[in-house]
Amino acid sequence: MKNVFVMDHPLIQHKLSLIRDKNTGTKEFKELVREVSMLMAYEVTRNLPLEEIEIETPVCKTKAKVLAGRKLGIVPILRAGLGMVDGFLNLLPAAKVGHIGLYRDPETLEPVEYYCKLPTDIEERELIVVDPMLATGGSAKAAIKFIKDRGATNIKFVCLIAAPEGVEAVHREHPDVDIYAAAVDERLNDHAYIVPGLGDAGDRLFGTK
Ligand code: URA
Repeated sequence: MKNVFVMDHPLIQHKLSLIRDKNTGTKEFKELVREVSMLMAYEVTRNLPLEEIEIETPVCKTKAKVLAGRKLGIVPILRAGLGMVDGFLNLLPAAKVGHIGLYRDPETLEPVEYYCKLPTDIEERELIVVDPMLATGGSAKAAIKFIKDRGATNIKFVCLIAAPEGVEAVHREHPDVDIYAAAVDERLNDHAYIVPGLGDAGDRLFGTK
């Protein structure tokens, strides 16, 4: 599948299986989502550019590599995306966090933005949009469009589980956006839930069921 990178690291896969299990309670679910997000942040940032600077160790002066000033932004799609933010910030504490909230218009079925607060300099940032479930792709496509409309040019999308339908939909509309997932599942069911999936990520994160 084009533009989707499946992160098959054993730790990610092990933790994802625990996340999927319906007997995993809210507290553990939240911790596991944070841990998997942190591991995914490690993989997603693999190609960040480095530059060499001069530092002084207790022994001598030397050249050392540091991140080359590329600024990052994490953009969770409300509300389930919030569960992934802390894991990313654990590894990327200097990243700014924007938020985007969408609901589906009951008549047109189109996603409508009800909240959007982004870093002011998004055109200079590499933005990582996070949402645990890429199902139909409707929210992801809309969120990416809203962010592009405000000037962002460098966007990645990170989810825990993707459906093939969602990957295809995002790729068709945003072929420049790479998708990172811990798993691509079989399909969507009639209620647009991912099968086998993990259920409703927002409800499981926030104990609202
Ligand atoms: N959103 C979820 O939380 N779960 C799904 O399976 C699909 C969309």
